[in-house]
Parts: sequence; structure tokens; C-alpha cells
Amino acid sequence: MSFSTEWLALREPFDRAAREGSALDLLPLTEGRPGSSSNNDGGDALTPYRVLDLGCGTGANLRALAPRLGGTQRWHLVDHDARLLAALPRVMTEWATTHRLKMPTPTSADSLLCIEGPQQQWRVELSWQRADLVHELDTLPFDGCDLVSAAALLDLVSASWLAALLTKAHEVRAALLFALTVDGRIDWQPVVAGDTQVTQLFTAHQLRDKGFGGPALGVNAVPRAVERLVALGYRCVQAGSDWELAPDSGARLLQQMIDGLADAALEQDPAARDLVLGWRLRRLALAAHSKLRVGHAELLALPLASEK
Ligand SMILES: C[S@@+](CC[C@H](N)C(=O)[O-])C[C@H]1O[C@@H](n2cnc3c(N)ncnc32)[C@H](O)[C@@H]1O
Repeated sequence: MSFSTEWLALREPFDRAAREGSALDLLPLTEGRPGSSSNNDGGDALTPYRVLDLGCGTGANLRALAPRLGGTQRWHLVDHDARLLAALPRVMTEWATTHRLKMPTPTSADSLLCIEGPQQQWRVELSWQRADLVHELDTLPFDGCDLVSAAALLDLVSASWLAALLTKAHEVRAALLFALTVDGRIDWQPVVAGDTQVTQLFTAHQLRDKGFGGPALGVNAVPRAVERLVALGYRCVQAGSDWELAPDSGARLLQQMIDGLADAALEQDPAARDLVLGWRLRRLALAAHSKLRVGHAELLALPLASEK
């Protein structure tokens, strides 16, 4: 399944706002870590916190998380899409420029970029790799990893791939953070005829195979991940991270959501053509006065303290 740089750039501010507004507490990840934002003890700030980010796109997850994690971090980003990885250095540089972040020369030979936060509150060295998460999962650098993360990926994957990933993370006692997984809630204000049916078709479409070797977990992804993580001995914490779209700030994304929902619904049930096209016209006519909430969840899984 492929995603354009334009789509990822369009959703990034809404993803970031949703995550910043989320009640998910990241403190357990940083607590006690030398040089982290929650520990100003002047400890060995050079010990990097290692993150493996899966399905990285152009690196939005790093941009959302690195400032919150604080301290010295080393990220390795993985995606199978060469176009997204080619855009990654430009998008990172634009982000650094916009936020007046420094980009010093990396100290590690393995790193391709380095970005430093204000007053050296955090520093990230990053590298990236083109790899297929399905066929090359076993080759990825899990060893020494503190955190395995993925944003907007978990709902695409199959149950068998998820099981394989969780086993890999568990083997190295890494924490896991899955951001922005859809949970099935799509709430329009005001409602129009066809909302329920189109949402049902869209939700069914999300369960189709997305290239991870079986039906995608879609809205069942977080409950399924929690079930397996608990069985592996992880402590799981969940919180909402909903998109809140309104015409003033989110007009383009609202429009794309209307088209995206309609396209998926039509593909799911071509016989529902009249219903879906009628719904799309009603929704577009009302777009300038509509609000949309799209339910997402954050899931943090922590290995038992005694295990790490
Ligand atoms: C919805 S996008 C999320 C991108 C990014 N994490 C973000 O939050 O902007 C899903 C990402 O997973 C990647 N992806 C999907 N299937 C993949 C696979 N089999 N191997 C590697 N990456 C994959 C896509 O290329 C895309 O970048």
C-alpha cells in the first residue's frame, strides 16, 4: 500500500495536535533515563535512547516524539517506499528550519542526520533504511533497541505480522509505542443520510489485506495488540488521539476524507453506488459547515521493570 508525501504532509499537523492533546503519559519511557526531559540530574546524557520506527514515511513520528522524549536519542527509521525516504531529509530540514533547531554534524558514523532541540534539551541522530516490513522484519536492527514505535501503521497490519513483531520486540525487552491507530469512530456534525452506511463500508474496507500477509486488523488492531502484549508480560496504557476537523483549519483534510471514505465504500460494495455518490454530494455541499471527529488510539506497552 502506498501513501503520497502530500497526504502525509496534509495529515501531519492534525496527527500532531491529536497526539499533543492525548492523555497518554510518556513519562514511563523517559523516567530515570540519563539526560532525558524527566531527569535533569546531569547524568550521562550521551547514552542514546534507541528507537526503531517502523513505516516511518517522511519521519513524522520522530518529529512528534523526539522533543517529548528529551535527552540523547538515536533513531533508525524504516519504510519500503523509496519516494518517501527520498523526501525525508528535505522534510526534516524544513522542520528544523521552521523550529530553529540546529543540525550539527552527526557524531556516529551510522547516522545520516543530527537534529538538536533548544538549549540542547534533546538531540537526535538518525538513520533510515529502505526495507519491507513483511519480508525483512528479521533483518531489522532490534538489538539494543529501547523503543519500537510506529505511527498510523498498526491498523494496516495482519494478526500474524503483529504477532511476529511483538515477539521480536519482546526478545530484546523493548517498549512499544503505536500512535494514531484508527478505532472506528467517525462522527460527523451535522449528520446526513448515509453517514452510518458509508462508515460501515469504510470500516469493512479497512479490514482488507494491506500487504501484511493477511486481512488487516483495522479497528481491531489495538485490542488485538493489547491481548498479545499482556500475554507477553507487558503493561499497556491507552489513550485517545482523535482528529478534530473543522472547516476553518481542516477544510482540505475534510474534503479528502469525504473522497477517501466514498472511494473505499464504493470499492467495498459497488452495488451501493447510488447511496455512496448521493452521500458524497450531500457531504461536499455541507463541508463548509461540517465538523468531523475521527477516532484514533495511542498504545504504549512497557516491559515489566524486572525484565528490562
Ligand atoms: C499511514 S503511513 C504513516 C507514515 C508515518 N508513520 C506517519 O505517521 O506519517 C504508513 C506507512 O507505512 C509504510 N508501509 C506500508 N507497508 C509497508 C511495508 N510492507 N514495509 C515497509 N513500510 C510499509 C508506508 O510506506 C507508509 O509510509
